[in-house]
Amino acid sequence: MKKYAEMTKEELKAERVKVEAVYKAWQDQKLTLNMARGKPGAEQLDQVKGLLDVLNSDSDLICDGIDVRNYGTMEGLPSCRRLFAEILGVKPENVFIGGSASLQLMYDTIAKCYTHGRLGSEKPWAKLDVVKWLCPSPGYDRHFNISETFGMTMIPVPMTSFGPDMDVVEELVKDPDVRGMWCVPKYSNPDGIIYSEETIRRIASLRPAAKDFLLMWDNAYCVHEFFGDYVPFPDILSECARYGNEDMVFEFASTSKITFPGAGISVFVCSENNMNFTKKLLESQVISYDKVNQLRHVLFLKDKENLLKIMKQHAAVLGPKFRCVLDALDREIAPLGIASWQRPNGGYFISVNTMPGIAKATWKLCRECGLTMTDAGATFPYGKDPKDSNLRVAPSLPPIGQLEKAMQIFCTSMKLAALNKLIGE
Ligand SMILES: Cc1ncc(COP(=O)(O)O)c(C=O)c1O
Repeated sequence: MKKYAEMTKEELKAERVKVEAVYKAWQDQKLTLNMARGKPGAEQLDQVKGLLDVLNSDSDLICDGIDVRNYGTMEGLPSCRRLFAEILGVKPENVFIGGSASLQLMYDTIAKCYTHGRLGSEKPWAKLDVVKWLCPSPGYDRHFNISETFGMTMIPVPMTSFGPDMDVVEELVKDPDVRGMWCVPKYSNPDGIIYSEETIRRIASLRPAAKDFLLMWDNAYCVHEFFGDYVPFPDILSECARYGNEDMVFEFASTSKITFPGAGISVFVCSENNMNFTKKLLESQVISYDKVNQLRHVLFLKDKENLLKIMKQHAAVLGPKFRCVLDALDREIAPLGIASWQRPNGGYFISVNTMPGIAKATWKLCRECGLTMTDAGATFPYGKDPKDSNLRVAPSLPPIGQLEKAMQIFCTSMKLAALNKLIGE
């Protein structure tokens, strides 16, 4: 098969007739398929339903001398803080256990900057004329949504295969209006990139002009390998502390893709100063989070070794799904030269970069054929992908049989969008 870019107009037109027929055949099947969000599939949820059996009315509900049924211990059960400290390689006193969503902790951390300022000593951000924010892109749409709700001026930073382009970041933080940055350091959403040691060192040693600069380190995929073994990862709090920057960072994680999304537990990790300041503000918001669920997670997950065994079970389900996506792209798209994609070993996504100018058209053709994908553009601030090229594939939810069909539709739609573009219509 020739690459599309090497075909004559006549060849492209002939190819389009063939691809249109395939597309029409899929459309006639009137399927409803979804590769939009990184949700675990039912098989994965079944693997961890034992979480519901570890506690009942006969169980010992006193943990660390604390009655989990009652108010109190806002920062979380000591056992639960120890468990997450072990997972993230930090000290238990730096760990705070929140509710069921790390996204809510992230939103709240930023909201506190707007209402109370960072560590109380700097001006509340709500009183600033402008708050600029660095957004490595492509990135996580919900991060960008948070920034947008607060009216931040988002600045895209290109992603490299080592993480955000640090030459760009180091230049941008010289601007005193740049007050923070989103990072998904391990298996980034959507690229699945692991930040290199060099990138982490350069981030941890940043010297931003804004003294209240906030590094939002969303380690959502800290133990989420689907190919190969667990990859150890540096602890950002110690890295920052090495350069006197321990107050610059908040790290986040959750069990959303370990146990049940929406019914798990979330954590943040921060310096002693940040912990004291944040706890004081949180005391006006909450008396305690759900310690019953914390105990359930402690009993079910046990320790990091056991947790990694559970992640291997998830990998046994997820690995073949990611393989299915990669195989379809390699077989259908690679010979045509109309897109490139990442090959992550963990996380929940595959990031596909089409030839410029066809991501939106591909997305629309998918939708008209019954396949829902994450909106084209969603992986960029304000939903604006300058090259109209990035599409995020989330293969975790559909069973393999559906995924194979979804990938056929995805590849056919992309071919058709490319042909229309090249033919010039
Ligand atoms: C990078 C990243 N952070 C956070 C979340 C959501 O986490 P939680 O369920 O803990 O709010 C997701 C979900 O897809 C994600 O991809």
